Amino acid sequence: MSVKVVIVGGGSSYTPELIEGILNRHSSFPVSEIVLVDIEEGKEKLEIVGKLASRMVQSSGKPIKLSWTLNRREAFVGADFIATQIRVGGLKARAADERIPLSHGFIGQETNGAGGLFKALRTIPVLLELAKDVHEICPNAWIINFTNPAGIVTEALLKHSPHKKIIGVCNIPYNMKHSIAEILEVLPEAVRIEFIGMNHFVFGQKVLVDGMDRTEEVLDKLCDDRFDYSPANIVNLGWSKTFIQSTRLLPNPYHQYYFQTRDVLDKDLKAFHENGTRAEVVQTLEKSLFEIYKNPSLSEKPKELEKRGGAFYSDVACSLMDSIHNNKGDIQTVNTSNNGAISDLPDEAVIEVNCVITKDGPKPIAVGSLPGTVKGITLQMKAFEELVIRAAISGNYNDAYTALVMNPLVADEKRSKDVLDELLEAHKDHLPQFYGGQENGKQVHAKVY
Ligand code: G6P
Ligand code: MN
Repeated sequence: MSVKVVIVGGGSSYTPELIEGILNRHSSFPVSEIVLVDIEEGKEKLEIVGKLASRMVQSSGKPIKLSWTLNRREAFVGADFIATQIRVGGLKARAADERIPLSHGFIGQETNGAGGLFKALRTIPVLLELAKDVHEICPNAWIINFTNPAGIVTEALLKHSPHKKIIGVCNIPYNMKHSIAEILEVLPEAVRIEFIGMNHFVFGQKVLVDGMDRTEEVLDKLCDDRFDYSPANIVNLGWSKTFIQSTRLLPNPYHQYYFQTRDVLDKDLKAFHENGTRAEVVQTLEKSLFEIYKNPSLSEKPKELEKRGGAFYSDVACSLMDSIHNNKGDIQTVNTSNNGAISDLPDEAVIEVNCVITKDGPKPIAVGSLPGTVKGITLQMKAFEELVIRAAISGNYNDAYTALVMNPLVADEKRSKDVLDELLEAHKDHLPQFYGGQENGKQVHAKVY
């Protein structure tokens, strides 16, 4: 049975990752067609990436038809999997998400705090439209969503779209598993981490190697910076022995924003003044990546792509598609509806846990209740995510304000308003739900506040 994969945001510099992942699995996951889709503004990048992807396919000798287009609806015809990796407003919008909160003394990050809120506000309506098209044109297709904030976006779609075949993915659980395998000198396949929580807010609560519990050993090794599983976008500040010994949990790299807020802020403010924010670093990185991609003799994923935080995400996405296609019943860590797996969270909450993957998608494995030490903050983060989704749908100023002021990285009633107003203004072209039409040639707020 042949398989058609559509990559939305196909002009992203990450696409060669995904192409490589598909080519590597071709014997078990026989993709016969790949279509890269992008928007007018991304046309030039799409063409460069399209040509590189074609060369990769050609040099692999695999019988795959590869094309690229700006016509999304046409691309969806007959699709089995739609990978979504879009960035509404591009890296320019990401820079505003990072710079504006930082300039008010808050964490400025694309998936956390104020930046995460605004990335979600821009992205959710666009993906809801996309899911509507998928539902109409290829109702059996699975949407594999990498678009950040991946957990929030996936929950928004599962709650508000008629299309229910959507799974959120992230490379953080994958990175943790691979780093732990390396430090324990075992194969990654032998390692199983029991995850509990949400995307970019997930904890590891148990590490099994070939079924043997080695959690204590891993926790000990994690103390005092003895190993690091951070992606390229996060500088690892290390975890203190006291924190690890008291919680007995494996934090993920994004937890630094919550439990080392002041140190991260100091470091990020310094970087912001020296080299700009991560978005600006990535902009420079992208420029050189695209120069490399243009080389007509390049026909593989260049090593330089590993400098991006999302490196290896293709392994996560491609293993997932492979297991759905082949009804494998193996275990992978993805974002899906809770349905009782974490007993303290609502059924419809999207969580990041180990799931059994079959042709019917992911079935979360029950993990029980949240560890008491992190129960409070996890519930608060889930409540924040719900508020974010509500604001993204309603386009109501007060909803957005409530989400922001209730976020533990902001939690300041006056400054929340300043940050919110500045971010709304910066992103107004990408927030149609908050702005209603024009008045004297100027855009105005549709909602009263
Ligand atoms: C990590 C996260 C991704 C995120 C990426 C950012 O890997 O899991 O969700 O997109 O980092 O990396 P970048 O290179 O864009 O800063
Ligand atoms: Mn991620």
